[in-house]
Amino acid sequence: MQGARATAPGKIILFGEHAVVYGQPAIAVPLRDVRASAVVTPGSVPGSVVLVAANLARTLVLRKTPDPNEHALVIAVRRLLDYFGQPIPPLQITLSSTIPIASGLGSGAAATAAVLRAVSLALGMPLSAETLNTLVYEIEKLHHGTPSGIDNTVVVYEQPVYFIRNQPIETFAFGQPIHMVVGDTGVASPTHLAVGDVRALRERQPEQTDALIREIGAIVQQARAAIGAGDVRQLGALALQNHALLRALTVSSPELERLVEAAMDAGAYGAKLSGGGRGGNMIAFVTPEMSSAVSDALAAAGAARVIRTVVG
Ligand code: PMV
Repeated sequence: MQGARATAPGKIILFGEHAVVYGQPAIAVPLRDVRASAVVTPGSVPGSVVLVAANLARTLVLRKTPDPNEHALVIAVRRLLDYFGQPIPPLQITLSSTIPIASGLGSGAAATAAVLRAVSLALGMPLSAETLNTLVYEIEKLHHGTPSGIDNTVVVYEQPVYFIRNQPIETFAFGQPIHMVVGDTGVASPTHLAVGDVRALRERQPEQTDALIREIGAIVQQARAAIGAGDVRQLGALALQNHALLRALTVSSPELERLVEAAMDAGAYGAKLSGGGRGGNMIAFVTPEMSSAVSDALAAAGAARVIRTVVG
C-alpha cells in the first residue's frame, strides 16, 4: 500500500436549471476554485478503513460487517473494494473540502469522487473516468433518489457538460476562458421545494409555464454557441434573459435579486441565479478587469461568500 492523494472540483449550473426537469438542455461547468481533497495513508486498525471527514466533523469506519445506517462515503469505499474484489485494507482516508455543503455546488459528488480516486490510487489500481463516474452516480442516487447525473459527470470529467435528461451527457470545449463571479446569498434553500413549486405552477398555468420553459431551452442553445465563440458579452445578455424567465417561474428571491442588481450596477455583462433558486448562488459574467469590482459589489450587497473563477 502506498500513500495517495486525489481531488475533485465543485460544479455550477450556468444555464437551463428547472427547464432541464422538463426535457430542455442545461449547461454546467466545473468550479475549480473549490475542491474536495482526499489523502490516503496506511491505517493502524487491521481490517478497517477509517475515514476522517474534517468538514462533517465526523470519523467514519468501514468494517467487514456493514452497518445498516452506513454513511454514503463508507458505502462508496465498500462498493469500490467489491468492484476490485479486494478485502478491506487497513487505510486511513482524510477528506477535506472547500466546497460549501448543500448549496448546489456538487459537494457530495466531489467528496465521493476524491475519496474513490485516492483509494484506487493507493491500491495501485487507478480507476478510469468512466468507471469512477458510474460509481459516483450510484452514490448520488443514495442522496437524491433520481439525480440527473450532471453533478457526477462534471466533477469526474472536470469538463463543461451540455445535458438533456435521459440522453447521453455531452462534454464540450470553451472557445476561450470565461470569467465569472459566483455570489452566495447565504440562504439555504432545498432544491426539491423550488422544483415542487414550479411543478405546481405548471399544473395551474400549463400553457404559460411551458412557454417559459421552452424559452429557457432556446436560451441554453444560444448560450452554448456563445460559449463556443467565447462571447462573454452575449453570455451576459443571455444570463439576464434566463434570470427573468426563472423569476417568472417564481424561483428568484429578494436576496438573489439584490445580488444580480449589485453585479449589474458594478458593470457585469449579465447575471442570473444558479441552481434551484430561492437562495443559494448567483453568477455574474464579467471580463478579467471587471471581476474585482463585481466581487466587491456582491460582498457589499450582503453575499455570504464570493468566488471569482475562470472556466474553460
Ligand atoms: O441546485 P442544484 O445545483 O442542485 O441544481 C438544481 C437544478 C434543478 O434544475 C432546479 C433541479 C434538477 O434536478 O435539475
